[in-house]
Amino acid sequence: MAEQVKKPIGITETILRDAHQSLIATRMSTEQMLPIIEKMDQVGYHSVECWGGATFDASLRFLKEDPWERLRKLKAGFKNTKLQMLFRGQNILGYNHYSDDVVEYFVQKSIANGIDIIRIFDCFNDLRNLETAVKAAKKEQGHAQIALSYTLGDAYTLEYWKDIARRVEELGADSLCIKDMAGLLLPYKATELVEALKEGTQLPIQLHTHYTSGVASMTYLKAVEAGVDVIDTAMSPFSMGTSQPATEVMVETFKGTEYDTGFDQNLLAEIADYFRPMQEEALKSGLLNPKVMGVDIKTLLYQVPGGMLSNLVSQLKEAKAEDKYYDVLREIPEVRKDFGEPPLVTPSSQIVGTQAVLNVLQGERYKMVTKESKKVLAGEFGETVKPFNKEVQKKAIGDAEPITCRPADLIPPQLDKFREDIKEWMQQEEDVLSYALFPQVAMDFFKHRQAQQTSVDVTAADTANGAYPV
Ligand code: CO
Repeated sequence: MAEQVKKPIGITETILRDAHQSLIATRMSTEQMLPIIEKMDQVGYHSVECWGGATFDASLRFLKEDPWERLRKLKAGFKNTKLQMLFRGQNILGYNHYSDDVVEYFVQKSIANGIDIIRIFDCFNDLRNLETAVKAAKKEQGHAQIALSYTLGDAYTLEYWKDIARRVEELGADSLCIKDMAGLLLPYKATELVEALKEGTQLPIQLHTHYTSGVASMTYLKAVEAGVDVIDTAMSPFSMGTSQPATEVMVETFKGTEYDTGFDQNLLAEIADYFRPMQEEALKSGLLNPKVMGVDIKTLLYQVPGGMLSNLVSQLKEAKAEDKYYDVLREIPEVRKDFGEPPLVTPSSQIVGTQAVLNVLQGERYKMVTKESKKVLAGEFGETVKPFNKEVQKKAIGDAEPITCRPADLIPPQLDKFREDIKEWMQQEEDVLSYALFPQVAMDFFKHRQAQQTSVDVTAADTANGAYPV
């Protein structure tokens, strides 16, 4: 009998980023992470995704933590495991396009503070929006992974995926990821998709999906059989639902096959034991809604990511128009078509969703057009796979000439101005980047940080003066 060729599948663990972002509004704190990372470091993960996405904003805004400090602490603990972050192309971690100098500096500082792999994506899959970040990552000797946002629609044929995979390789990426944020990729479609990608590129291929629609672990199985190299999973206490399939389950699935990860299930069990009380606590406090742990079949029917559905519900609740939910769900694909059929992922998901809500509430399509919708239709986010609806475009931006170049080519350098704005608050170089992305939130954080330090100083001084027993 011929010896079995081993092709162990790589695992990216998401519990420190996407899993808690998807299930508990990104509220896991650094203090909650640190006690377990030494054990996690022994597992043998391909990488641990632990930074970027919404973690940056949530740290500053809700947890009053410096995200850069979190990264440095994680790096100190993960001695053997590569750290990975999610990066929104020219949006970095924000919602608008930034100038190239900001993008380059953010990449440089991310790698300098401990990131090994930068997963870079664009909500339109407009590769021009990834050029600067990919180049910067290469320059800093980081691993530049390009993630393509997965979506369905007439334009997204196997030919499209094969061709864009080829272009991803040409751009200089080290690997390619399919980012299925909505959980739309079905098991047998995954086989076809992975085969098409492999025809287009020799790069290692990673698959990122969400359990939202209930098919994710089957999709991983078919994708691995079709030759995917790495999959994204989350430790069981924060897995499934709107998060990823469970790490332990996928590891066990491939045990004894050519794809065997070789991970120690006892070690994984110890890690799961650490996180389980955190899950129970989140359920008790209401931070974790049991609803997001189930299967949401609406996501397959309407092809809308889970996070976008919950946003819609709250927008409609605020407008006291909850009865319009299904009208809005039917309006979303219409707006998406008018906008050139982009994938629905941050920030396009918010832009399309909000416009659909307005169209329904106003009782007339595009009677009101949001500032962001205008930007999209003016080409300021880049190029969509299909052309915009000309009539809608005219209604939104009038006779203004839409731009067709790479949007950031029109943005002058911004870094010096940001540095000037915060010079009296700056305590580390990285502060200018926090401020660039979230000016108000970062400023509030800087003030909070200084107030904390002042109170510590006062205590120390009083102690030194003998005011307190030592
Ligand atoms: Co995700």
